[in-house]
Amino acid sequence: MNLATAMKIQILAVLFLIVACTAPPQQTTSAGQDVAGQGLNPPGQNTVGAGNSTDLSVYTMADVATHADASSCWTAINGQVYDLTAWISKHPGGAANILRICGIDGTAGFEQQHGSQTRPEAILGSFKIGVLG
Ligand code: HEM
Repeated sequence: MNLATAMKIQILAVLFLIVACTAPPQQTTSAGQDVAGQGLNPPGQNTVGAGNSTDLSVYTMADVATHADASSCWTAINGQVYDLTAWISKHPGGAANILRICGIDGTAGFEQQHGSQTRPEAILGSFKIGVLG
């Protein structure tokens, strides 16, 4: 190898190092999709704070009233809307007590039975799908 070739190789090596050091880091694609705002907000629903992952859908009592049986059981309690469909068969107080608040405002029944209890309140929170508006 003559001197000129050796210099060319050195220059190429230096150029390669400069490019390697200044290139931005490779973007790695995360396995999980961005699910912000999904799930809670079916397309076409009004939302509070659109674009935020804590979005809540806004429903009316007319919306709640269309989910009034075991196939889809929504209730409103203290201004929040809950989908209790999956809870009907699990409720320690019996399915009937959940079924009777499907499609209506269940505040009075819930508060009367569970008003001072933390566990029913916590479980209720896990079924929240939106707010009354
Ligand atoms: C009108 C509404 C409701 C009525 C009348 C009602 C009634 C009852 C009754 C009678 C029991 C006692 C069962 C027993 O210990 O033998 C009970 C237990 C329970 N209910 Fe409800 N319930 C209602 C709504 C709900 C809702 C909406 C939730 C939560 C999503 C809930 C969660 C629970 C839980 C977690 C227990 C067990 C409490 C414990 O830890 O001892 N209930 N309910």
